[in-house]
Amino acid sequence: MSDTIHVLNGPNLNLLGTREPGIYGAATLADVEALCRTTAAQHGLELVFRQSNHEGDLVGWIQAAAGSVGVVLNAGAYTHTSVALRDAIAGTGVPAVEVHLSNVFAREPFRHHSYLSPVVRGVICGFGPQSYVLGITALATTRPARP
Ligand code: DQA
Repeated sequence: MSDTIHVLNGPNLNLLGTREPGIYGAATLADVEALCRTTAAQHGLELVFRQSNHEGDLVGWIQAAAGSVGVVLNAGAYTHTSVALRDAIAGTGVPAVEVHLSNVFAREPFRHHSYLSPVVRGVICGFGPQSYVLGITALATTRPARP
């Protein structure tokens, strides 16, 4: 098993820092990446950190993460729409944690449903960039022992 963790970000997360700061805060995606790099290193893990506005890129990256420690996925709006991302997680069996910066359950009703939640190990939302830290920590500290 490769000691790599993948943090994947979906649409509009490239706009962090200027995008609806009252909801998503002031941290940029580069700030989130730096936090993730520090957290992964604390657990002795390599980090792959990516963002795309295109659903197919995310499907490919989930497939490429098969066999790794796992995927921390903030799929953005695709969370609420994408059967393809759901099938990529289920089809590869890659351990995944769904993360959100905002508390999606405190927002509009259309954000309350996730296609991903039934096929991930767990869901963390509402803690800003710390949601990513918690997601990485969850995967790193609950991985099966090596044979
Ligand atoms: C988000 C929540 C989603 O509902 C939204 O579409 C996003 C960001 C979050 O991190 O809070 O793009 O995933």
